[in-house]
Amino acid sequence: MSDDGRMHVPGSDVAGGLDTATSSEPGEPAHPHFPRRVTSFRARRSTISDRQQGVWDRLWPVLGTQARDGQDPSGPIDTEAWFGRRAPVVLEIGCGTGTSTLAMAQAEPDLDVIAVEVYRRGLAQLLAAIDREHVDNIRLIRGDAVDVLTHMVAPDSLTGVRVFFPDPWPKARHHKRRLLQPDTMALIADRLRPGGVVHAATDHPGYAEHIAEVGDAEPRLRRVGPGDDLPLSVARPVTKYERKALAGTDVTELLWEKAR
Ligand SMILES: C[S@@+](CC[C@H](N)C(=O)[O-])C[C@H]1O[C@@H](n2cnc3c(N)ncnc32)[C@H](O)[C@@H]1O
Repeated sequence: MSDDGRMHVPGSDVAGGLDTATSSEPGEPAHPHFPRRVTSFRARRSTISDRQQGVWDRLWPVLGTQARDGQDPSGPIDTEAWFGRRAPVVLEIGCGTGTSTLAMAQAEPDLDVIAVEVYRRGLAQLLAAIDREHVDNIRLIRGDAVDVLTHMVAPDSLTGVRVFFPDPWPKARHHKRRLLQPDTMALIADRLRPGGVVHAATDHPGYAEHIAEVGDAEPRLRRVGPGDDLPLSVARPVTKYERKALAGTDVTELLWEKAR
């Protein structure tokens, strides 16, 4: 991933501590009774600065939590208790360094945003920005979004799910690692409330086609457009990555609504 957290090229781990978040990550030996599942991310090394560590120590216990797997019987998170209010909840999968997360949460203070990421340095950058900008409608979960959706989110509860620039895994032999597959889309559809929205964006034409097929095939979802009456904004900020790395590359935005 580049400095702004946008493009994680699978296999391009950076120096530092191993950035692992769940027991199912590649690189760890599979338990004989619980074979490792294929994940959409790869363990990588990252470090955070002393300043980021200071913010992390202060804020993570309040604003962050670790993803839970099936071994933990706690059940779905109580978002009203966590945010201290009752508001529509949007889950962002793979927030990177949280550039879009922060801007969209600031633009929609009446929504509560849960940012999920396996990459600790990205979460540390987002935490520092939350601290700096005094934003109070973002919470963070570290770990695999599939675990989060499966074990921490109640059915029919989310107003939106955002997936911006998911790793495209461009090689054919890696396509099985793409996050947005029929199973994940079905899980997302299950966790959305009726009228809730999935918003995906990608600059990879092949993955865009794949996501479109998968979303259109999910019976609980119907395609909508940015001009439709939606319960959340679909205006993404143009990030540094988009301005530089994607100059001249088309971004495909895909939107579905869960049947009302
Ligand atoms: C290409 S980056 C895009 C980051 C960000 N959405 C953006 O637009 O800048 C994809 C991110 O998704 C994260 N990711 C991939 N699979 C994930 C999963 N199953 N759960 C949580 N995060 C995941 C990666 O760690 C990476 O930071």
